[in-house]
Amino acid sequence: MRIPDIRARKAAGEKIAMLTAYEAWMARILAASGMVDMLLVGDSLGMVELGYDTTIPVTMNDMVRHTRAVRTGAPQALIVADMPFLSHQIGIGQAMRNAGRLIQHGGATAVKLEGAGPTVATVARIVSAGIPVMGHLGLQPQSVHAQGGFRRQAIDPDDQRDLLSDALALEDAGAFAIVLECVPRELARAVTGKLGVPVIGIGSGPDCDGQVLVTHDLLGLSGSRTPRFAKQYASLGEAISDAVISFSADVRSGAFPHA
Ligand code: KIV
Repeated sequence: MRIPDIRARKAAGEKIAMLTAYEAWMARILAASGMVDMLLVGDSLGMVELGYDTTIPVTMNDMVRHTRAVRTGAPQALIVADMPFLSHQIGIGQAMRNAGRLIQHGGATAVKLEGAGPTVATVARIVSAGIPVMGHLGLQPQSVHAQGGFRRQAIDPDDQRDLLSDALALEDAGAFAIVLECVPRELARAVTGKLGVPVIGIGSGPDCDGQVLVTHDLLGLSGSRTPRFAKQYASLGEAISDAVISFSADVRSGAFPHA
């Protein structure tokens, strides 16, 4: 999949599937399915792999290392890498350098930035350097404190109007797609209808151009942190637990290894 193919999918009315990946082994499995259109090296890395309570502690070094791992596992994939907390807000030079690191050293195809406002000009500059950018509106985990927690956003009409104009501004700035996280279904449908670029929803209902999930959530690896909107397609947490209990019991009983 290439960036122009993603845009064409919307025009053709075909839904887009995106999943997170953080490691080479998982990227290899997702790519081999032939069904996942884009891999996202999300800064959710911090919560599902590194054990933090938020995405805020995730660094550029974390993102470059894990993006490189995903590229190694999925050499042909369209890989979007998150720009982590405070990696682009300090100045345009910093933003360009860090976007460049994710592309040049991480092997990403595109980068994703949360937010609008001053970020719109940053998006335009990064795009002008030939780096595809995905926007991210609605719940923005890097702004979890300002937004009052991991909760639904854009409930009242003023916030909904602002979100729509932010989405249009990001599209004008050259974003090739926009993630819309945890907003009301009707708003997600309206934004999807107004934008020419694909809107990828998460916890925002079924009317977006595509959907993204954190892979740990759909595999049953997130335990009590699984968000309510996620659909769990497997119970790998239980399968892993059963396997390690069997292994340990076999070691204790002498059933493994065979003589
Ligand atoms: O970090 C991430 O995994 C994300 C998705 C939830 C969209 O940004």
